[in-house]
Order: sequence, then C-alpha cells, then structure tokens
Amino acid sequence: MSVMKESRDAVAVVGAGVIGRSWAFVFSRAGCRTRLYDPDRTQRERAIHWLKTAGAGEGRISAHDEIAEALEGVSYVQESGPENLAAKKAIFAGLDRLAPEDAILASSTSTLDMSAIAEGLPGARRAIVAHPVNPPHVIPVVEVLPGKMTDPEVVARARGFLSAVGQSPVLMNFYVPGFLLNRMQAALVREAIHLVESGVADVGAVDAVIRDGLGLRWAILGPFGVANTNADGGIREYYGRYGGSYAELMNDLGPTPSFDRAQIERLGRRTDAMTNGSRSEILEWRDRLIRKIRDLKQEDPMPRGGSS
Ligand SMILES: NC(=O)c1ccc[n+]([C@@H]2O[C@H](COP(=O)([O-])OP(=O)(O)OC[C@H]3O[C@@H](n4cnc5c(N)ncnc54)[C@H](O)[C@@H]3O)[C@@H](O)[C@H]2O)c1
Repeated sequence: MSVMKESRDAVAVVGAGVIGRSWAFVFSRAGCRTRLYDPDRTQRERAIHWLKTAGAGEGRISAHDEIAEALEGVSYVQESGPENLAAKKAIFAGLDRLAPEDAILASSTSTLDMSAIAEGLPGARRAIVAHPVNPPHVIPVVEVLPGKMTDPEVVARARGFLSAVGQSPVLMNFYVPGFLLNRMQAALVREAIHLVESGVADVGAVDAVIRDGLGLRWAILGPFGVANTNADGGIREYYGRYGGSYAELMNDLGPTPSFDRAQIERLGRRTDAMTNGSRSEILEWRDRLIRKIRDLKQEDPMPRGGSS
C-alpha cells in the first residue's frame, strides 16, 4: 500500500467514537502519525483500548486532551464528532483557528452540507466532506463532496490523500441529502420492508436475493456495470429491451414505511427468528469475509483493456 509522501505525514482525528477510532486505524495502518482528540476522557481511553486490541499502528497513535496539541503540524484533519450542525460549526471554527493553514479539514458527517457547516468560516476553502462507511478500516469507499466555498485544489488533494491511505474516494459534485450511498440504500430498504410487510416473502427470502443474488454481482460491479453485462450488446441493448419493464416495475414499488414502533418490532421479531449465532460473532465474520473479498478484488482486478 502506498503511504503519504509528504514530509508532514501527521493527521488528526477529532472525535474518537465508533467512526473516529476506525479512521485512526486507517491512517496509522498507512504509516501516518495519528493524533486522536476527544473531549471525553472515557472515549479516548476506549478508542486506544480498541485500537490496541485490533492491532492498529503501534507507536504511531497518540491520544490528546488538548485539541491544539492534536492539531500541531498536521496536514489532514478528519472530524468525527457529534452529528448536528451547531456542534459541527463549533468544532470547525476551532479547527480553522488552530490547524496549520494548509491542512485539509474533512468531516465524516453522514447528513450535513459543508456549505452550512463552513458558512462564514474564514477557511471555508479548505473544508470538505469525506463521508465513510462504517467501519472505514474495513470498507474503503469514502464519499467526497465540496461545499460551495471549497477550493477545487482541496478536493483534489483530499482525494489523493484518501487514495494514498488505501481508501476508495468517490467524488460528488454537490450536496444532496443522503449523498450517493444512503440514497441508494434507502431505495432498496423501502422496497425490502414493503415486500415483507405486505406478505410477499419473509425477511430470509428478501435477504437471500441480495446476499446470494444481486449482492454477489454488486460486490464487483455497480448497477451500470451490471446492466452493461446483462445483454450481449451491453447497456444500450439491455435498457432498450427491458427499459419498459423497469419503468412499469418502478411505478409499482411500495410506499415509504412508517417506521413506527409496532413496525420496527415486527421487523425485529422476524429478523431475530432468521438469525442464528450472536451479533458479535456475525460482526466478526462479516468483517473477515469483507476483507477476503477486498483481497480477491485486489488480486484479480477488473480488466480495463478493450471497450467491447
Ligand atoms: N456510525 C456510523 O455508522 C457512521 C457512518 C458514517 C459517518 N458517521 C458520522 O461520523 C461522525 C461520528 O459518528 P460516530 O458514530 O462515531 O458517533 P459517536 O457518538 O460514536 O462519536 C462521536 C464522538 O464525538 C465526541 N465529541 C463530542 N463533542 C466533541 C467535540 N466538541 N469535539 C470533538 N469530539 C467531540 C464524543 O465524545 C464521541 O466520542 C458523525 O458525524 C456521523 O454522522 C457515522
């Protein structure tokens, strides 16, 4: 794996919860000196314990109770604090005041627009969203999107840095709620709940068609890549032939679920009945298999030779 080439290869992770500690794993694994800041001492200690147990970058990670200390000489900051606009604005004001002038200030936010977080911030040009998927030390995709004031040069540097530490940055041109990943996930989850709630199939069947069907292709090709391989003539022939059926189906899809307590409980009971083994065992197994799939994809990358 390539490691940052810059001499100032120190990075700061601000907020050491579930996502911050996983980012610390990513950066330290890539060889960066990684400084962890969290105002809550218990969270700092928990993160350091988790990182040690997980075998992360021994000697390259330090925890700090002073944010200024954590930011000294860093070239990249990954903010991973609480998910609300007022908190993010306050944290970014501090980062902009204290971080070196050319350091990139990236936020892990899942829902917020950097144009709002960085509104009125003197250093808005260097503020950007870098939204990971949980946990980023296992899942590489990071949605990168600028705010209205973000400098294009900062976008390019952030993408370069995230690639250099082994992640897969994807660029969005502007903000939409849910970004790319959660919008597509929401579309699928809506229909999954509709199919179960209307009695068409049980949760096991719905999960199986993703796990043993669509998901196998989706681990190596996205929806456009799949469409391009579903007909001898590629995506044009495929949509030419099946576009009408897709449109009919799309008009037949279910409504937005209520997510009221009764509905959540119904889905919970059905999911409990389907699941064997403890959740922690399943989590470990999930992460182990995801790593194997990543390794396989690296060993046998997509052919990029011809266009046919
Ligand atoms: N959990 C997920 O699945 C997930 C996925 C992608 C992105 N995110 C985003 O990552 C961010 C962190 O989420 P999380 O799940 O790790 O939350 P979390 O609650 O586990 O961690 C947040 C941490 O921020 C700390 N904090 C509080 N005030 C702070 C301050 N002023 N400065 C710095 N840190 C402060 C808290 O002590 C806590 O340790 C959020 O913006 C969230 O939307 C979460």
